Amino acid sequence: ASLELGPYRHFMQKEIHEQPRALSDTAEGILDAGGFDPALFGKDAAAVLADVESVQILACGTSYYAGMVARYWIEDIAGLPCAVDIASEYRYRKVIANPKQLIVTISQSGETLDTMEALKYAKAQGHDRTLSICNVPESAIPRASRLVFYTRAGAEIGVASTKAFTTQLVALFALAVALGRQRGQVDGAREAALLDELRHLPGSVQHALNLEPQIASWAAAFAPRQHALFLGRGTHYPIALEGALKLKEISYIHAEGYPAGELKHGPLALVDTQMPVVVIAPNDALLEKVKSNIQEVRARGGEMFVFADADSRFSDSEGVHVIRTPRHVGVLSPIVHAIPVQLLAYHTALARGTDVDKPRNLAKSVTVE
Ligand code: G6P
Repeated sequence: ASLELGPYRHFMQKEIHEQPRALSDTAEGILDAGGFDPALFGKDAAAVLADVESVQILACGTSYYAGMVARYWIEDIAGLPCAVDIASEYRYRKVIANPKQLIVTISQSGETLDTMEALKYAKAQGHDRTLSICNVPESAIPRASRLVFYTRAGAEIGVASTKAFTTQLVALFALAVALGRQRGQVDGAREAALLDELRHLPGSVQHALNLEPQIASWAAAFAPRQHALFLGRGTHYPIALEGALKLKEISYIHAEGYPAGELKHGPLALVDTQMPVVVIAPNDALLEKVKSNIQEVRARGGEMFVFADADSRFSDSEGVHVIRTPRHVGVLSPIVHAIPVQLLAYHTALARGTDVDKPRNLAKSVTVE
């Protein structure tokens, strides 16, 4: 294993650092095509995606959080209603079938049983427009789908998903723009601008990775704690959920992700000096709202750890620690903000001495119910 690991201590750390490469490999087909061509999703795509009226995303775990980010993009960029369900919930509830609905499954392994069964259930209800976003060629879920986009993360060994997640987001972003283009919601100039943002993404992710020493120094503050809260808004709310999931999976610290606007509807009651609060604070339209959420936490004596875009004018103050992420990158910002929360979980687990690549009780691929 040491040969495969190179300079890294764990596969998770290696896979976190492989993200600039994984993202540019996954974006390569899109950049080579010079745009978000529906054909990226398969030769049948133009027909399958034509007159789609809504999108239903199905997935488990981290892949589900990728779906939650995609919902914002599909509604905003493509102008289509989008629902996201946990596969094990969808497969056991009554669904209102619509043959013009696109069913999108997201699975790193392509073998997760609940996601596969949710897809079969959707098909049994009469849905035949199916698209799989998957990292493993020829696995079960893409084989059962009409369209497929393969992420090119490469083999992911760490149980906690990292590079699969961010490459899934690239695939889902491409889907949102392709649907928007087909529906006349995205014109040539907008498409070119979005393509440019995609081209710059691996560089921004590399900047975020360069923050590792600063993030590792925060891990000492997290390691002795029992609980942590992660806050975000908009497309960064699922990143808060993902940050909390990573931390609980590998460090066994109880963590919750919350949309920052819900703070006063419950979690504020838990805030005291013993519970660190992580805030994802990109320089977007919601920044002022996030800043006022930070004041609410500070007023209760909570210690804040803020990931703030370089251009969002945040500085350290009493009880507020700030790490400056790269300048705001626009619509792809949740991909860049996924990196610091991965690194925070990794270094906290390292400080606690847990088995980072094989956390207790968890499996890489869940093929049982
Ligand atoms: C397991 C893994 C997670 C993964 C989830 C879904 O819980 O530990 O990292 O996100 O399964 O897996 P999939 O292969 O369907 O994306």
